[in-house]
Amino acid sequence: MFKKIFGGADAYKTVPQRDDPLFREVDWQRLPRHVAVIMDGNGRWAKGQGLLRTAGHKAGVRTLKGILSTAIGLGLEALTVYAFSTENWKRPHAEVDFLMNLFSEYLARELREMHEDNVRIHFLGRIEGLPASLQQQMAEAEELMSGNTGIRFNVAANYGGQDELIRVMQRMVREGVDPEAIDEEMVAGFLDTAGCPPVDLVIRTSGDQRLSNFLLWQSAYAEFYFTETNWPDFRPEDFVQAMQDFAGRDRRFGGLENK
Ligand code: IPE
Ligand code: IPE
Ligand code: MG
Repeated sequence: MFKKIFGGADAYKTVPQRDDPLFREVDWQRLPRHVAVIMDGNGRWAKGQGLLRTAGHKAGVRTLKGILSTAIGLGLEALTVYAFSTENWKRPHAEVDFLMNLFSEYLARELREMHEDNVRIHFLGRIEGLPASLQQQMAEAEELMSGNTGIRFNVAANYGGQDELIRVMQRMVREGVDPEAIDEEMVAGFLDTAGCPPVDLVIRTSGDQRLSNFLLWQSAYAEFYFTETNWPDFRPEDFVQAMQDFAGRDRRFGGLENK
């Protein structure tokens, strides 16, 4: 069974097995390969509870743990989460500082368990813009899990889709790539998500319906799932609900065939 930790309903320790009641309605043949999540609404959640925004971010980390476990249980190939955008530096210094510390604590605390769960963590974004100690932790975590064969877990930190494409173009020019040789496959191989399948489903919590500079190239043919639920309240059950919704989508990719 899916065991809860922290005493909260939004945090789970063990990875749920296929026969877990949570997965009763899952259409295993029609799961997305790559799910990307815009974890939004921590601040609004905190406000609703009469708490500081930082308390919302803390609660959001617990949610992430449960969603990663659920994604592993579902056997997804890749899960990408938006943790900090290139635009989030506009926030008050204290909030940015808190978030950087939270990422660091999260990594330190979850590293071993993720490794045991065969997770391959990878960071997307302009990593060199983050605090040096955090960069070091990130590199160590990637290195530790580099030989794992389970879910690819991408954490986007200091990430912007436009910034990523600028970095791709800069590298291409620097490496003297032949302009005629550039095709979709080559660009995909230069992205921070190189090696991952395209994004099938983007989930955004908390009601806003926009990309906020997330995975611009990778989401070219993604399905979108928006929910009013704030990220700290988003449960594994809600994630499974998004999978069911996705299973019912008719993806035509510009063609005429139906599902
Ligand atoms: C998302 O929650 C977390 C980050 C952007 C780091 P927000 O902090 O954006 O919460 P809202 O949107 O203000 O409610
Ligand atoms: C997007 O959320 C970034 C993350 C979830 C990390 P924001 O809260 O920063 O997005 P906007 O400002 O509403 O577009
Ligand atoms: Mg927000």
